[in-house]
Amino acid sequence: MSSNQESWGSRLGLILAMAGNAVGLGNFLRFPVQAIQNGGGAFIIPYLVCFLLMGIPLLWVEWATGRFGGKKGNHSTPFILHELDPKRALWKYVGVFGIFTNIAVAAYYCYLESWTLNYVWMFIQSGFNGMGQDGVASYFDGYISMDQNHTAIYFWLLCLFLNTYILSKGLSGGVEKAAKVGMPLLLLFGLFLAYKGITLKAGEFGALLDGTIGLNYLWTPNFDSIWSTKVWLAAAGQIFFTLSVGMGSIQCYAAYVRSKQDIALNAMSAGWMNEFVEVVLGSSILIPIAIGYLGVDQVVELTKSGGLGLGFKTLPYLFTQWGPLMGAVAGICWFGLLFFAGITSSLAMGTPVMAFLRDEFGWGRGASAWAFGLIVMVLGAPTVFFYNEGVFDEYDYWAGTVSLVLFALLEVILFAWVFGMDKGWKEINEGADMKIPIVYRFIIQYVTPLILLAVFIGSLPDIISKIQNPGNGYVQGARLLLLALYAGIAYAVYLAYRRRKART
Ligand code: ALA
Repeated sequence: MSSNQESWGSRLGLILAMAGNAVGLGNFLRFPVQAIQNGGGAFIIPYLVCFLLMGIPLLWVEWATGRFGGKKGNHSTPFILHELDPKRALWKYVGVFGIFTNIAVAAYYCYLESWTLNYVWMFIQSGFNGMGQDGVASYFDGYISMDQNHTAIYFWLLCLFLNTYILSKGLSGGVEKAAKVGMPLLLLFGLFLAYKGITLKAGEFGALLDGTIGLNYLWTPNFDSIWSTKVWLAAAGQIFFTLSVGMGSIQCYAAYVRSKQDIALNAMSAGWMNEFVEVVLGSSILIPIAIGYLGVDQVVELTKSGGLGLGFKTLPYLFTQWGPLMGAVAGICWFGLLFFAGITSSLAMGTPVMAFLRDEFGWGRGASAWAFGLIVMVLGAPTVFFYNEGVFDEYDYWAGTVSLVLFALLEVILFAWVFGMDKGWKEINEGADMKIPIVYRFIIQYVTPLILLAVFIGSLPDIISKIQNPGNGYVQGARLLLLALYAGIAYAVYLAYRRRKART
């Protein structure tokens, strides 16, 4: 039935691709900023609890669901979920989230990714030297306001082209190769910058404090946070975003795993690699360097107006304090690392869309990759042209935050309660190269759905207040676009279902 017969080239390639899917801009930009905004050490305990009780179980559920769907020739969530409960029509439309989220997140994520390319280019040309703090900040403001001869547009198009081109080369020929090059380089650059961050010394190159002060701020636990709903919601949101759970991309990658191949250990390898990169490397660069130069109070203040400024306005200037050569090396490593982190994640966002077009409509690899590129360009354009009007943040809220929780809640209910935990547990353990603690059976069945429900209910006041305050015309337009996207995909799923019925 399906012309979509790809598979992963090697186990290492699969793990690196899955880790690349998870490791992204979220690890290096979002995590440190969330941690600072939520009180440093106060954030860490809820974060770790969410990882153990929600992140790990969802990884197993999504890998198992994906491999199960893949056995029957389904590689994207509408029909993967349908396979778990073929009698009910509903699940196909729940599965629409797994395509919708990937397109909508890719739409703003690729734009962010393209900034990193531009900044690598700037550092190669020593473009920030002698600019001063205000100069670097106004470079960024000008860049996103399209003041600089449309440079932002060229880099954005270049970034879309790179993603599309790699996707058109397929899983083993494109995505896997990109991960095999990108992930080791990312680790190398990250270790170098983490070393520089941790060994930063007060008084050297203009730093006020040791780099370890920032680390202490982050790692001194604060038990008061246990009772703060806001901190818990932020921690849960970060776990979703960083692991890419609730998105539909893990299920798609796992659908190309062979039917008896291990998923239990593979899921843990990729998941823990993400946590290493986030918690060890992600904590040791932005925070120690920024706090070392600016002190805790100023950094906390800076993150109040959003987090991206710290990575794109402050850090590039601080690197220039290390002298022309070391400054350029650090800048290229930082933005190079961000680029590799970003592209290995955005490639994972393209795969479910391509899989859907290939499975259901028989499209070729190239055509489906270019279709993805085009859709992301059209939907991403408002984030590029109306960034300052709030369109970027609006996409991030609905697609990168709310949809993930809602989809994860529904899929875990489907897996544990409709498909059934007996079959589900067997599926997770099939071919397993590790012994999964039996307590996780209980966690997947009861604890994870309850926590997800609590997170969803906890987010409701914010969701309702967003709906009641529609914002400016651009934001309203963005919402309409997202709604239209969901409806369009749902319609395509309906057509695909009819085609399937006609065939049988
Ligand atoms: N998991 C990806 C990230 O952290 C989306 O950026």
